[in-house]
Amino acid sequence: MELQKRPWIGAATIALAAIFAFQSAAHAQATFASSNDAPALTYSADVASIIQENCTVCHRPGGIGPMELVTFEDVRRYAPLIKNKVVNRIMPPYYYDDDIGIQDLKEDWRLSQEDINTIAAWVDQGAPLGNADEIPALNLHDSDDWSLSNLFGPPDLLAPSTPIDVPAAGLDMWHRPIVPILGDIGTEERCIKALQVKPRGAAKTVVHHANSTFQLSRESDDDADADDDAGFRGSGRATEYAMGKLGEIIPDGVCRVIPPDAWIRWDIHMYPGGLGASAVNDVVEGNIVDLGIWLHPVDYEYDYKQTLSLYGIRQGELVMPPHGTTMMQGFHSFDHPVRIDSFQPHGHLRLRSASLEFFYPKTGRTEIISMISNWSATWHQSHLYEDDVAPLLPTGAVMIIKQWYDNTAGNPNNPDPDQWVDGGSRTADEMSHAWIAMTHLDEEGYEKIVEERKAAEEAAEEAQRIASN
Ligand code: HEC
Repeated sequence: MELQKRPWIGAATIALAAIFAFQSAAHAQATFASSNDAPALTYSADVASIIQENCTVCHRPGGIGPMELVTFEDVRRYAPLIKNKVVNRIMPPYYYDDDIGIQDLKEDWRLSQEDINTIAAWVDQGAPLGNADEIPALNLHDSDDWSLSNLFGPPDLLAPSTPIDVPAAGLDMWHRPIVPILGDIGTEERCIKALQVKPRGAAKTVVHHANSTFQLSRESDDDADADDDAGFRGSGRATEYAMGKLGEIIPDGVCRVIPPDAWIRWDIHMYPGGLGASAVNDVVEGNIVDLGIWLHPVDYEYDYKQTLSLYGIRQGELVMPPHGTTMMQGFHSFDHPVRIDSFQPHGHLRLRSASLEFFYPKTGRTEIISMISNWSATWHQSHLYEDDVAPLLPTGAVMIIKQWYDNTAGNPNNPDPDQWVDGGSRTADEMSHAWIAMTHLDEEGYEKIVEERKAAEEAAEEAQRIASN
């Protein structure tokens, strides 16, 4: 029973053992950096800025990290552990394979290999301070603040859920209030620039996911559709949140629509006791999840609409015997060309890896777009492709989403390999889908993007030819 309540405790121990198992290779790499020729590195001159820019946002008072990395003393105390997590690319927590598929991502938290080498070599050299006066000043803003406000200022619209108490232990809970949107949309459809969902305070550790859809008040019973509830009808997905996700930024030139008079219907999945090392294992009173929406101006111009949808991976049955593994895949194609703007696999504790691939029937070729080999349920990142590389799927080509599941004891996240695992919504069940934002193009728009990219590539090659002459 103890395992059921706090599935991550045992899991964390196994994870640590696994890390040490492949430490020797990582160690060999790091010691190479600390050879006699290596420059003397100091905290003040070389390391403080890396920690401040990449770690302190979570590792500070009130942040979601289990300890603070604010002062030199904090960082020095954890130096060997920091080296371990950084060299193995466990921290910062952004899991996306760096040797295959598209690598140009927005809001990508991964450290450069150069920064990783700097931290490792500094730790190997005894983690010296250097000149304390040189440590850059740290600007700690409110950790309950919107992270996207750094880019866009405060949100234009807010839609907090109603509060709910979550007990310290128990079964999964769902909360589905319909709430008004605070702020002014106006009387016409508007285009959304960005969205962020943020469980308030301690709610961060117990909210597993929070989906939001736009709702319009139903004028008559003829309006009824499957999404119907209490006089409302659904009007499209607003956004999706799952533990550890930052938010969504919609590319320029396209429109994710918000209807005037929209309300928000929440679908919040909570896990009493919490998930992850920062779990509270305590009653969380008055749990509220906030939604912030940034809007484009009323006269914003765009060519195509963009949507966020759930794409199922439903070929076959998702079921695993004790100590078993399985793999699921789903195929989707469209009667118009699309540009994929973001990709976010979804699963629970047995999901280990996920990929997005394109199959081109005309040439018989398959291309890997994105691969996440080391997936984790505490970090549901939406991988946002940079605009100039966002993958283009021609009409009739096939989008293939694959997910690999591991119910063995070798999976560091597995709370109990002796259980049968079936498809379902509870945290102990598994899921098989991905959230994908896509721009719906037409043939002309598709050709235009292909031509633009070709021209940009030729210009870059030309510039390089001139530079090398
Ligand atoms: C987005 C938030 C976030 C960022 C950014 C982040 N961390 Fe973490 N860190 C966490 C959380 C949460 C944990 C607890 C383990 C978990 O849930 O994955 C953690 C765990 C750790 C641990 C292990 C602590 C333990 O006792 O096992 C270390 C070390 C660490 N982080 C260092 C870093 C460093 C160094 C950086 C920057 C290079 C960093 N983290 C960036 C959130 C973050």
